Order: sequence, then C-alpha cells, then structure tokens
Amino acid sequence: MEDLSLHIMDIVENSLRAGAEHIAVRLVDKANHILVIEVEDDGRGMNEETLKNAANPFYTTKNGKRYGLGLSLLSQACEDAGGRLRIEKGRTKGIKVIASFKKDNVDIKPMGNIDKTMRVFRALHPEVHISFERINT
Ligand SMILES: Nc1ncnc2c1ncn2[C@@H]1O[C@H](COP(=O)(O)OP(=O)(O)O)[C@@H](O)[C@H]1O
Ligand SMILES: [Mg+2]
Repeated sequence: MEDLSLHIMDIVENSLRAGAEHIAVRLVDKANHILVIEVEDDGRGMNEETLKNAANPFYTTKNGKRYGLGLSLLSQACEDAGGRLRIEKGRTKGIKVIASFKKDNVDIKPMGNIDKTMRVFRALHPEVHISFERINT
C-alpha cells in the first residue's frame, strides 16, 4: 500500500466487518514530530486470542482465508517509520487501533488523499457513521 490513506481505508474495512455503526478516525499531529492515526469503532471487538494475534500476518478470522495482512502491513509501515502499532479494546466495546509514525523519518509513507478516502467511504456505506478529525497537540 503506497499511502497512509489506503491503510486507513483497510483498517476501517475491518471495523465494518466487525459490525460497527460508528467509526472515529483521528489524525493527531503531535508537536514532538510524531503522527498518530487512531481508528476507534463500536463493533463486536476482539477476544483475548484475536487481540494478541491480530497483527500476525498468518492470523485471520475470515472464512476460507489463511492470512490477514491489513494490520500486519500497517504495523510494518509504522515500524519502518520509527513508530509502532497498538491495538486496544475500546472504552465500552469495539476496538481502537493506534498507529504511530515519526514525521521526519525518511521512510514514512505519504498521507495520500484522506478527504477523498473519507468521501468515498461515506458514499459506499451511508448506513455507517464515520467521523474524521485532525488534531494538533
Ligand atoms: N476492528 C476490528 N474489530 C474486530 N476484530 C478485528 C478488527 N480489526 C481486525 N480484527 C480481527 O483481526 C483479524 C486480522 O485483521 P487484518 O490484519 O486486517 O486481516 P483480515 O482483515 O484480512 O483478516 C481479522 O480477521 C479480525 O478477526
Ligand atoms: Mg483487514
């Protein structure tokens, strides 16, 4: 995947598959040269086993598939840019994916067209509430 917007799309697809009705995407631009992408949903969440293995490329709960690359590729993109991927349980239910990157790392992927990505998603899935926020801290 060549840009971070495509990774975000992929992570949001996971939320959809988990039955989320609300998805919050936040782009946190930190003063300390760190960029954080957060995707939080209210889907069915993960059990402990899935939580532990979700970023493993050979772990998936999709029927008939032997590998699940979305989170693993995002984790790789974070690490290539000096950051890391965390996956947490949501506050009440669902999942929160937190991907961090060093903004000045030469290997950070370009953002791509995040506004367009959001527009396309909303057009394809009008039944899901997806919010997008840019935060500077
Ligand atoms: N938002 C989510 N809510 C619940 N489960 C999730 C979520 N995102 C990922 N998962 C679980 O983690 C697994 C791995 O995800 P991923 O790396 O994107 O691969 P894939 O989607 O191809 O299975 C999924 O099969 C699913 O079981
Ligand atoms: Mg996926």
